[in-house]
Amino acid sequence: MLTDTENDSTNPEFNHILSERLSRRSMLKGSFGAAAALYFGGSSLLLSATGETRAATSKLKLNFAAVNKTLNDKVTLAQGYSYRIISSTGDPLAEGIPAYSNNGSERAESFNKRVGDHHDGMHFFGLGKNGLWSPLASDRGLLCVNHESVTAGFLHPTGATIVDEKRPNDNEVLKEMLAIGMSIAEVKKVGPSYTLVQNSRFNRRVTSMTDIEITGPAARSPLMITKYSVTGTRTRGTIGNCANGHTPWGTYLTCEENWAYFFRRPASDDSKRSARENASLKRYGVKGNSLSLWATVQPDTADNRFGRWDASINGTSGDGSDDYRNAPNTFGWVVEIDPFNPDSAPKKRTALGRFAHEGAWPGLVIAGQPLVWYMGCDSRHEYIYKYVSNAVWDPADAKRGAAAGDKYLNDGTLYVARFNADGSGDWLELTHGRNGLDRDNSYYSFSDQADVLINARLAADARGATKMDRPEWGAVNPNNGEVYMTLTYNPSRALDKVDAANPRFYNDPKKGVAQKGNANGHIIRWAEHDAKGSATKFQWDVFLFAARSNADPVNINLSGLTADNDFSSPDGLWFARSGLLWVETDDHAFTDASNCMLLAAIPGKVGDGSTKTIVNSDNGQQSTVNTHVGATPGDDRLRRFLVGPVDCEITGITETPDGRALFVNIQHPGETTTGKNFNIADPSTYLSHWPQGGTARPRSSTIVITRDDGGPIGAELA
Ligand code: FEO
Ligand code: CA
Ligand code: CA
Ligand code: CA
Repeated sequence: MLTDTENDSTNPEFNHILSERLSRRSMLKGSFGAAAALYFGGSSLLLSATGETRAATSKLKLNFAAVNKTLNDKVTLAQGYSYRIISSTGDPLAEGIPAYSNNGSERAESFNKRVGDHHDGMHFFGLGKNGLWSPLASDRGLLCVNHESVTAGFLHPTGATIVDEKRPNDNEVLKEMLAIGMSIAEVKKVGPSYTLVQNSRFNRRVTSMTDIEITGPAARSPLMITKYSVTGTRTRGTIGNCANGHTPWGTYLTCEENWAYFFRRPASDDSKRSARENASLKRYGVKGNSLSLWATVQPDTADNRFGRWDASINGTSGDGSDDYRNAPNTFGWVVEIDPFNPDSAPKKRTALGRFAHEGAWPGLVIAGQPLVWYMGCDSRHEYIYKYVSNAVWDPADAKRGAAAGDKYLNDGTLYVARFNADGSGDWLELTHGRNGLDRDNSYYSFSDQADVLINARLAADARGATKMDRPEWGAVNPNNGEVYMTLTYNPSRALDKVDAANPRFYNDPKKGVAQKGNANGHIIRWAEHDAKGSATKFQWDVFLFAARSNADPVNINLSGLTADNDFSSPDGLWFARSGLLWVETDDHAFTDASNCMLLAAIPGKVGDGSTKTIVNSDNGQQSTVNTHVGATPGDDRLRRFLVGPVDCEITGITETPDGRALFVNIQHPGETTTGKNFNIADPSTYLSHWPQGGTARPRSSTIVITRDDGGPIGAELA
């Protein structure tokens, strides 16, 4: 699904204001010694107080030869590595459920016990013999996988039925609703690889029909009242489940990204709304012309499973307790799920703010310090956020499961990032009553903290956050706490609106067709002041600029990419425990040269490169900007490891705690098949048949990668 909504707010972008450059400090000073136990974000490994198991990334070496770019309809892996499929769309998750037909014939309800579609963010939780979380267990685990969306053309017998701009087939729409969300499946080691345990008691689906609790400061807000929950404390379902996160108490975070697309709201509804309501709905893309079709199924059910996607004012109440006018406010959150307790209700954690959540990535977990999660809002010109808990981490809470979530995820401070031209950065607090975020704010009148969190984008606008080139995944370096985040691409970045952190405007023509703006994206990174996740200042640079290897080396290919490591549109990003950084792509610009891919990178650190001046050009016009670029990686520190099948996205990645098995998701191969030449009856019109081959419909899948000699994946200590 495209994620090309636009932040057209009047946020003044304060990047021209130079702030004092921070003095560089030893980022690790004092950070590791005191804690009784360290829990590294981005991994599930408990480390000793001295941190002696930390690998020095300077000694890390890539252990494979680069894979060539390819357009083949298969998974191409580095030599010496193999993969097998863990699960694909529709695979059974319970005993007695028949194998998936892959012809669309299943009834919708069967997806309550089948793997969903469009696999995305993912995490492996080690499973102990006692059925509890075992952070170091590798032979058996619970794999939590997001299912972001569906390719409806392949999910039904003859594609999606649409008549007069309506969906007449309730079974089709319900199947789509049940194929989105996330799945939990037990996996176990069998021989050299892993397999799904079909009859595990832990297997579970969470879908857009699941009852979910609303927690945190926005629970019980008048803005959360719906016919489903007149107290504003519950909602039905989670959707747009893109990337993910996890907690140091062994729970999974699934993040709601493109939820706004699912709501219907005719233009006539605007006139029934207050100016504030319209400002909020517009800023979140539930504009008064959103004509999503799920709500058009007639007749609706008694529980309004279809009608609830109509977000217009249909009732007569003053507070929305008799319709779903406020339903959009109950989506756009980080949702916590306890995979070890299949009967537990998921919880939406409103303290982390509402936007197009890509994911929520934990910072280093250090006893006695607050917990931190980094987050991106993925649309053009949107922002980077972080959440800092008020409670400080008590390692005893690691065994409390979801109960610990109420302590750390309901009570904290939300910040949004401003990247200054001089390489410094500021975290701008989003708290009601501070810095003008109150009823008197001229940009939007914020009534309370619930209003600030529900309208976090508006609060971030009002504070002058930096508009980024579409924030996707973040990842925290387990060795030094530095944070990396992909900015996937931004065709709306204008020649005269570049800034130091989003500095490129260029043309990357594809088959002779112009692709302007920041067509290939980049990866930004930052070091928190004093290496503290709770800091309000940071220092940043650009780790990698994506580009074709033959692009202008001065203004476009600033990272010196070569044929062995050139890429476009970085999206998934993830640190292995070894300190190796994996980069996944969701590309459109470079797909004349290669399908989407997975690359392995050995990170440096913020400030290891230099300041460079970029001259951007278009039709005789120019703009010049200084930016801060990390050290050129060269083939030794950045290499292509995998290329996926045709028209897929590579997204979602996790490993077993022993680092011997890497799980990767192949999302929607052949996705754009369902364009103008598509004929479901003619398999020759499908762009991909992966993974089954022949004339089969393509299916999203999780694969597991192992090294043929059983060794560590991607890199090892030299
Ligand atoms: Fe679902 Fe922003 O990727
Ligand atoms: Ca996708
Ligand atoms: Ca993504
Ligand atoms: Ca993407």
